[in-house]
Amino acid sequence: MEMIFTLDNIKETATRFWKIAGDAKVIALHGEMGAGKTTFIHALCDVKGVKDAVTSPTFSIINEYSYTENGIARKIFHIDLYRLKDEEEAIQAGIADCLYSDNICLIEWPEKAPGILPGDSFHAFIKVTDSANRKLGIGHK
Ligand SMILES: Nc1ncnc2c1ncn2[C@@H]1O[C@H](COP(=O)(O)OP(=O)(O)OP(=O)(O)O)[C@@H](O)[C@H]1O
Ligand SMILES: [Mg+2]
Repeated sequence: MEMIFTLDNIKETATRFWKIAGDAKVIALHGEMGAGKTTFIHALCDVKGVKDAVTSPTFSIINEYSYTENGIARKIFHIDLYRLKDEEEAIQAGIADCLYSDNICLIEWPEKAPGILPGDSFHAFIKVTDSANRKLGIGHK
């Protein structure tokens, strides 16, 4: 399935995305540099009601946000694997602990450590079509 979106309708797109992703906990967001992964994750977090600042975890590797769902406090991990070399570095950075913690994990540059992703991860692909439009492809890989 594919959706085209701009910054003007990114929140509606994120709302649809959550409906399609269903119960998926680990969401791998593929796309080249500057494609809009962080920007889309920001929208996904907005829809969940995250109030923390959603910023690129390029230096920290893992950002942790909180939100409430049906009155229960929940966590989202925003993970950027760009700076990691391989799976071993990812494990050392504590990524696997997040991935198997049953919290939602939104992952940029998942191709850096594909082997540590759970088999039921939900994969999405963002492509630049022009300066304002992005194409989002979704589904299980
Ligand atoms: N429809 C759109 N969706 C997302 N970003 C868009 C869109 N239109 C324009 N942009 C712009 O494109 C840029 C995307 O940058 P962003 O940091 O989200 O990319 P990224 O994929 O996370 O890059 P990196 O691989 O470096 O982490 C932002 O400046 C954003 O404002
Ligand atoms: Mg980014």
